[in-house]
Amino acid sequence: ERSSNIQARPPVVTIMGHVDHGKTSLLDKIRETKVATGEAGGITQHIGAYHVETARGVITFLDTPGHAAFSAMRSRGAQATDIVVLVVAADDGMMPQTEEAIDHARAAGTPIIVAINKMDKPSADPDRVLNELTAKQVISEEWGGDTPMARISAKTGEGIDQLLEYISLTAELMELEAPLDGAAQGVVIESRLEKGRGPVATVLVKKGTLKQGDLVLAGEHYGKVRAMIDEHGNRIQSAGPSIPVEILGLPETPASGSEFLVVSDEKKAREVADFRANR
Ligand code: GTP
Ligand code: NA
Ligand code: MG
Repeated sequence: ERSSNIQARPPVVTIMGHVDHGKTSLLDKIRETKVATGEAGGITQHIGAYHVETARGVITFLDTPGHAAFSAMRSRGAQATDIVVLVVAADDGMMPQTEEAIDHARAAGTPIIVAINKMDKPSADPDRVLNELTAKQVISEEWGGDTPMARISAKTGEGIDQLLEYISLTAELMELEAPLDGAAQGVVIESRLEKGRGPVATVLVKKGTLKQGDLVLAGEHYGKVRAMIDEHGNRIQSAGPSIPVEILGLPETPASGSEFLVVSDEKKAREVADFRANR
């Protein structure tokens, strides 16, 4: 039975692919910001989590450095991702991390959409990419398979509308929904210790609404949410389903892929945290 508390939620899309194939650049172009050029050495150090309002609705994106974090989330059974966008550079073709990303998405049962990137380059060879992916049983809709593939350039913006349309169409078929009210639950995307801020955890809310002041149990740690910050660095008071947010207030950094939940009772939180820590 569908309760009125259950609402449609945005798709969570993880961008995966081989090093330097343009994952962060694609997200930059979608967001029209300049994250990749601001990164140390142009290498993604941690997961960026963003939600973007497109003409076809909100989409939440997770940018990965290779596949490590995705794999951590999967191994803990936390299905944070609805759709994988696999970025393959048209001038480079299928590479080891492309194959690993395919294997991870398959093992998790997550649909794949391919973004054949760097189409602006004279050396781009998209047919070669289609052939290589076919050999890995990832077959384009154009070739009678079931995988949508967009030819794009994260540099010029070519094909990005097409890619966003494929994401929206795939998400629509999935009929994604979650309760909006009630104690929040979700997954820790990544966490780190920051000078002056202490432990900072980027979390993705999956159910309910997370609020400042909530008592959160995340992996082996619990604490009160002292502050919540969105991806623009703005302080916010609450975050609903599929919304990524940074939280401050945990005493230590929880592991990537840990589940988090809001609890009402501090004694219970301590018991569960202790139990998990001594397991
Ligand atoms: P990692 O996070 O290190 O795995 O890399 P990434 O996949 O996020 O790639 P990134 O966005 O850092 O891009 C790598 C390089 O490719 C940069 O020099 C980008 O400017 C360049 N690049 C990305 N997309 C395009 C594109 O569509 N066309 C061209 N010509 N260059 C691109
Ligand atoms: Na890079
Ligand atoms: Mg990157």
